[in-house]
Order: sequence, then structure tokens, then C-alpha cells
Amino acid sequence: MQIKLDVIGEHFLSAELKILTAFQKTSVPKTKGAKAETSVSIDHWSDKGLKEEFQNLKSAKTFKAGKDESISFTGALGETVWVVGLGDKTKFHAEDIRKVIAKILKGTKSTKFSTIAIDVPGFNTIKDEVRTAQVIAESAYLTDYTFDKYKSKKSEPHEFVLILAHTDKKNNLKLEKALTSTKNIGESISVMKDFINEVPNVLHSVEYAKRIEADVKKNLKGVKIKILNKAEIQKEKMGMFLSVNAGSAHEPRLVHLTYEPTRSNSKTKHIALVGKGITFDTGGYCIKPGTSMAGMKNDMGGSATVYGAFRAAVLEKAPIKITCILALTDNAINEHATVPDAVVTARNGKTVEILNTDAEGRLILGDALDYACDFNPHYIIDAATLTGACLVALGNQVCAVLGNDQKWINEILDSAKDQDEYMWQLPIINEWRQDIKSKVADIKNIGTPMRAGTAIGAAFLEEFIKNDVKWAHLDIAGVVDSQSHLPYCSAHGASGLIVRTLTHLLVNAK
Ligand code: BES
Ligand code: MN
Ligand code: ZN
Repeated sequence: MQIKLDVIGEHFLSAELKILTAFQKTSVPKTKGAKAETSVSIDHWSDKGLKEEFQNLKSAKTFKAGKDESISFTGALGETVWVVGLGDKTKFHAEDIRKVIAKILKGTKSTKFSTIAIDVPGFNTIKDEVRTAQVIAESAYLTDYTFDKYKSKKSEPHEFVLILAHTDKKNNLKLEKALTSTKNIGESISVMKDFINEVPNVLHSVEYAKRIEADVKKNLKGVKIKILNKAEIQKEKMGMFLSVNAGSAHEPRLVHLTYEPTRSNSKTKHIALVGKGITFDTGGYCIKPGTSMAGMKNDMGGSATVYGAFRAAVLEKAPIKITCILALTDNAINEHATVPDAVVTARNGKTVEILNTDAEGRLILGDALDYACDFNPHYIIDAATLTGACLVALGNQVCAVLGNDQKWINEILDSAKDQDEYMWQLPIINEWRQDIKSKVADIKNIGTPMRAGTAIGAAFLEEFIKNDVKWAHLDIAGVVDSQSHLPYCSAHGASGLIVRTLTHLLVNAK
């Protein structure tokens, strides 16, 4: 798919498929008790010819332009015209635009249209043409994604040019710019989805680090990359990280990326991103039952999410310094694997009793967070598929946010709201901080079973934040995959969610 802009003109005219919208207007009844009348509004169509053709249609008589209602006809130029009902204009928000565009594009999958034109003003229910075009393009990139590298029979590619037709010439430059941004973000989301969807027998820690390095070298000019191998991780005294890797056939990797904007000085804001990169989580000796283990290739989703946001922010030339730390290993079992009751020493010197080897994410992240704090960022965000409890608390549609600074959490929540991604804050209370005190070591890696599991995980991570860094933790266990309620996400596999929230936050940071 290729996306092109057109100030409604020749490209729009010659498109094989034209997508137009209609709104439903409800009139307030003049007399009491009278029924409200609904009518269809297509005033916004700039193509007068099409307007007339539509009004002369017999089938248009019963068309009410309700949400999910649509009709199609053949235009005078031989093109196919789809008229999509959007219902009440005032109730159609940016997220509705994403959803309807995804449904429309899915509907064209089996068609052979090589040019599809979308009438942007017709979707502009949010009174912002540039943003409307951006949201349309965003949805198109997200919807267009497929992962079928392991299928002998590939899904038939539908190659087409998507023409975003608009009327306001003045907006052209802004639109071009917005579309370039959307492409950068859209492609970064595809890259991180590929990482998540890749199978665990291929994407182990060493391979994952290599793929990240290749992508950085190819696409992120100026970004510094350092990859710590096992010996270097040992030198860093990352005892928790190493304990998770102990049962693995593969060496761990710690990927360290640094981006600095061209105009950078000592006052430049510095944000560190930290990601959980468990390429497969068997649970370790506290082994997961088969049904819970399936899907655990997604347990590196946190690292893919922060990498996706880092990548997009770099391409978007974010005005801040960004450090990105990814801790990569699987959580597997062999004769060297860590047993429950083991005590290890974290990089920050705290001793940790490992009572459950399946609570491994916090172990690798704790050391990675301590390492990240050494670079004195002003802010840290970590992302992790940390707890099953997050799904119990917030379902699989809502990302949890917790942290040590309310202002920072609010900024992240605002960014999520701006991007229409669901996020909700959970508290960390002192009682839960107490709950991870150990009888034999400084702390233990689990709290009371079945109690506030997501917050306990966060309370554990907080133990490794130092230098007064403002920190927030995102538990993406629910939202990382299978977002069947969102037509622009695949029903199975990586969702790509939260990259938009983080990118928006990084690019707009001051
Ligand atoms: N990777 C899992 C969390 C998870 C579960 C993510 C389901 C996505 C879907 C994590 O490592 C884990 O196993 N957590 C344990 C923690 C417990 C032992 C304290 C859990 O949630 O059961
Ligand atoms: Mn686990
Ligand atoms: Zn895990």
C-alpha cells in the first residue's frame, strides 16, 4: 500500500474506488409528541456530479446514513462509489474514524481496485482536516499489516494506492508533513509487531539483538548502539538478570541505544525507556501449565514496544535525549536453571529471594532499571508484559500505569488519551511495599498470592529506581496482543498498541 495526497483533482477523479461519507441528521420535532425526523447529509461532497448521481439512486431512498450502513453504486466514469454512513457527525470521534477506515479497507481486501480514493473532508468530524488525514493514514498502516511468513500459502497481497483527497490547498504542506510522521510511526509499529510475532525458536535473545542492531544501523542514523553480552552483563553484576538466563541455551543480551537531538545541551530533557524482553516465558522451574505457556513468545512485547517508540521518535527527530535499554533472554529450564528459594544479589546490591521463577520479568527489569538510572535520565518509563493479574484487573483492553511521580504519570495518561489508547492508573501503597520484604533476604520477588499482583510487581521494580528519577511502569500484559475489538489491530498476534502513546509523549516532550 502506498499513500498519496491529492487536492481533489485528477487522482481522485480517476480512482477506481471512491469512498465518500454521509451523515445522519436528526431534526428536533417542532411540535410536542411529534417524531424526530432523520435525513441524510452529503453537503460536504465536493464532486457535484457524484452528488447528483447519488441523489438519483433508487437505493438511496432507504439509506439512512447510520453507523455501519453503506451503499455502493457505479459512477458515471465507471468507478465504484462507496457511500459510508457515519451516523451523527457530532458523535464521531478520531477513534471512530480509525475503526471505520479499518473496516472499509478490510472490505476492499478481496477487490482488485488498484487506486482507492478517500474523501478526507467527508471524514472530518473532528473539525481538523490535518488530523483527520493523519488518523485515516494511521489506521490504513495498522490495518495493512500482515504476518504470514510461516504460511506456505501467503494471503494474497492487495497492492493499491490510497489517495487521500482533500479540498483545502492551504493545508497541503501540513498534510504532507503529517503523513510523513504517520508513515514513520506506522512503519515503526510494523517493525515491532514483526519482532513480537516472530516465533520463539527463531527469535531468541542473540537473534533479537542482532535484528535490532541491523534495523538501527539501516534506519536510525546517529543512534549509538551498545550490546552487552553475558560476560559484560556479569561485569555489571546483574545478578537478577543472570538468574533468569541461567537455564537458557542462549546468552542474554542487554541492548543500550542512545539518541541525542542535534541541538542538545546540558538542559535537554532526557527520558529513558526500559523494556522487558523475555523471548519466551516457560515459567522456569515454577513451570506454567501448557495453556498458560502458549502465547509466551509475546513476553518480549515490552522491549518491542519501547523500541518501536524509540525508533519512531528518532525518525521524528524528537527534541529530547532518549536512552533505550532492552533486557533480552528467555526464561527456560535446564540443569543450571534457578530454583525457587534461591537468593541472588541485584546490580544495586540488594539481595533478592526468588520464591517464584515465573515472576522473572521484574528480575531482569530491576537490573535494567538500575543500569538506566546510572545515566541520570530525568524520567524513566518501562514497559512489560509483567503480570497476568493485569488482565484480571483491567481486562485485555487496558494498559496499567503505576509509578513514583503523579505528574509524570499524568503526562503519560494524557498522551494515551490523545492517542485514544486505553490506560488506567493503579496505586502502589506502602502495605504492598511491605509485602515484598523477605524473611531471608532484603526482598522477595512475589507478594501475597492473588493480591494486587500488578502493583506488587511495580513495587518490586520501584526498589531499583535511584537518583530521584521520576519513573512510570506500564504493564502491557493485556494489550500486547489479540485486540479483536479493534478492527485496525489483527485479532491474533501483536497489537502494536502503546507505541503511539509513547511516541507522542517523546516527540512532544519539552
Ligand atoms: N509473562 C508473565 C505475565 C503474563 C501472563 C503476561 C499472561 C501475559 C499474559 C509473567 O512473567 C508471569 O508469569 N507473571 C506471574 C507472576 C506471579 C508468579 C507473581 C503471573 O502473572 O502469574
Ligand atoms: Mn513469568
Ligand atoms: Zn514473563
